[in-house]
Amino acid sequence: MSGALTEEQATAELERLAREIGRHNRLYHGEDAPEISDAEYDALVRSNAELEARFPHLVREDSPARQVGAAPAAHLAKVRHALPMLSLENAFSAEDVADFIGRVRRFLSLSPEEEVALTAEPKIDGLSCSLRYERGRLVAAATRGDGATGEDVTPNVRTIRDIPDQLAGDAPDMFEIRGEVYMSKADFADLNARQAESGGKIFANPRNAAAGSLRQKDPSITAARPLRFLAHGWGEASAVPADTQMGVMRAIGDWGLPISEDMKRFCDVESLLAHYASIERKRADLPLDIDGVVYKVDRLDWQRRLGQVAKAPRWALAHKFPAQRAETLLKAIDIQVGRTGKLTPVARLEPVTVGGVVVTNATLHNADEIQRLDVRVGDRVMLQRAGDVIPQIVGVVSAPDDHAKLPTYDFPAECPACGSAAVREDEEVDIRCTGGLVCPAQRVERLRHFVSRAALDIEGLGQKSIEDFFADGLVHSPADIFRLKDQIDLLAKKEGWGGTSIRNLLAAIEAKRQPPLDRLLFALGMRHVGGVTARDLARRFVTLEALRDTGVRAATDPAGLAEIVSVEGIGPVVAQAVVDFFAEPHNLEVVNDLLTEVSPPDFVVETLQSPVSGKTLVFTGSLETLSRDEAKAQAEALGAKVAGSVSAKTDLVIAGPGAGSKLKKAAEHGIEVIDEAGWAQIVEAARS
Ligand code: IVH
Repeated sequence: MSGALTEEQATAELERLAREIGRHNRLYHGEDAPEISDAEYDALVRSNAELEARFPHLVREDSPARQVGAAPAAHLAKVRHALPMLSLENAFSAEDVADFIGRVRRFLSLSPEEEVALTAEPKIDGLSCSLRYERGRLVAAATRGDGATGEDVTPNVRTIRDIPDQLAGDAPDMFEIRGEVYMSKADFADLNARQAESGGKIFANPRNAAAGSLRQKDPSITAARPLRFLAHGWGEASAVPADTQMGVMRAIGDWGLPISEDMKRFCDVESLLAHYASIERKRADLPLDIDGVVYKVDRLDWQRRLGQVAKAPRWALAHKFPAQRAETLLKAIDIQVGRTGKLTPVARLEPVTVGGVVVTNATLHNADEIQRLDVRVGDRVMLQRAGDVIPQIVGVVSAPDDHAKLPTYDFPAECPACGSAAVREDEEVDIRCTGGLVCPAQRVERLRHFVSRAALDIEGLGQKSIEDFFADGLVHSPADIFRLKDQIDLLAKKEGWGGTSIRNLLAAIEAKRQPPLDRLLFALGMRHVGGVTARDLARRFVTLEALRDTGVRAATDPAGLAEIVSVEGIGPVVAQAVVDFFAEPHNLEVVNDLLTEVSPPDFVVETLQSPVSGKTLVFTGSLETLSRDEAKAQAEALGAKVAGSVSAKTDLVIAGPGAGSKLKKAAEHGIEVIDEAGWAQIVEAARS
């Protein structure tokens, strides 16, 4: 870009970049909702840096290079960092790394025989957090914010198990540990699955999920999210326990905080680069997302002398991994029909390796995305694979002439599986098949959902077998699954099904004849009815017949709809979806047919009688023998409600070590406080 620019053009471009980078900073740090990939962001920052280097006199007052992240969110209290939380300079090539070491040597004017030792460790794709320990106790925690001022997330951080409330061993009087709060890839996938089920927000990637989970007003939400922490440095400290980076990090590890197992120390560029390459090779197999390797000068006296420029220290460098991208041919665009009729375009590709994985399919998300990219069958496309996310097409790379010759892609106006009209509902991006249960694709997807792990969970009846049984006409609707026992002869003729596997399958099906009502409701796959909503409905209606009758009545009688809306946890959209479900004759048939095969017991939530029945409890501080989730489940089983904050309505507070403001509030309101052992006694007494 900066090739043949005039000053005027450079000024305009620098202004554009400042605005653009500022906007992406806000989206990324402020709203946890990035629109571009890290690699694209880095490219913008690099263009800006290159232009600034060419036209130093045009560097703007508000240059993006001088800013870190984005201003803190309004809903959390602001805290000023005792020492600023810095960012890192990025490197993208071996040459950049060699240059960095050259700069360090020059700055310190080292003689050629003097070795520069550097640590190298993964760059975690999370969000940085500073933990302040006084006399070994965690007293405050803050996010980075704009580097100078962050957000107070102390109560939230106390819910993270990796972060001890009390440091082990002999820690200095005051020590700020800094590191990354993150979510593992597996926990991220689970969280999104749960969010999808309950109709909650779906996160774009583990980093956003971690940020969204940490920056909550209500720490009980954070507590329910599986956050982790990895220390990578420190801030203000009354004393530093070693004179090298490695030494201090080991001390932090000894105090009980997780540090990276891949942190190593090297004395030459070749070994650093070899370590970088070995980390990159195992990147896909690591449990967490990383986006590069960070090098740090090991000697702390040298770090002090090197100091910092603008927003980054001179003694550290982030060597980023290249984005995992590859070019390939788009052979076809297929339309997949989901359980609720949503049509998703899927790109069929000439197989290509991206970051060590062979990719043959990629998502094109929806019709708008195809239009935005103007991608056409026959195009060469750029494919990107980010972590464990489904690969996506990021652009067309065909020669313009070749591209122009291809016909544009028309999103089908009919469902490819059943021919019913495909329509876009008001303000929705998705286009849906209107065929309902007439549509074989929707029917198979619904059957697959019916037997899935979170629904009826019929062992031995995998997604593939369902597809197979449906294709063979063995199973059309959920009730047919329970009639498979009458089809043994046909089953036995099928490839892969022998006597034992058939016996096991039929036994697994028989075991589900009395399914819990909430699971059965979830299994029916009504729109917007996830596991939690299904439970709310089950609790209120007790039987499937009662829900069905109310649902049917609601189609003509507003009192019926009102009855469903009045269920705690159910809003008008969900209620309408329930009514719509029963208004569809096919669905009614499926339900009635199913009820001839299964008999879910009346849904009664068993609660043990206990001194806390009907009471409102608050857990605070760290629990040593229990997770928050388990404590909450115990309390609910005893008929108690668990709240996230202490108020006049709170009856009992269970406080572990490190309980802070909630404990104070409990005292103000004169609320009884017990410790974890006291709580364990209550649970034990109720059980026996
Ligand atoms: S050191 C003074 N080490 O990356 C240097 N940072 O892009 C402070 N990060 O703000 C950072 N992994 O939040 C360091 N192993 C690591 C890191 C790491 C992730 C984050 C950190 C920093 C950002 C800069």
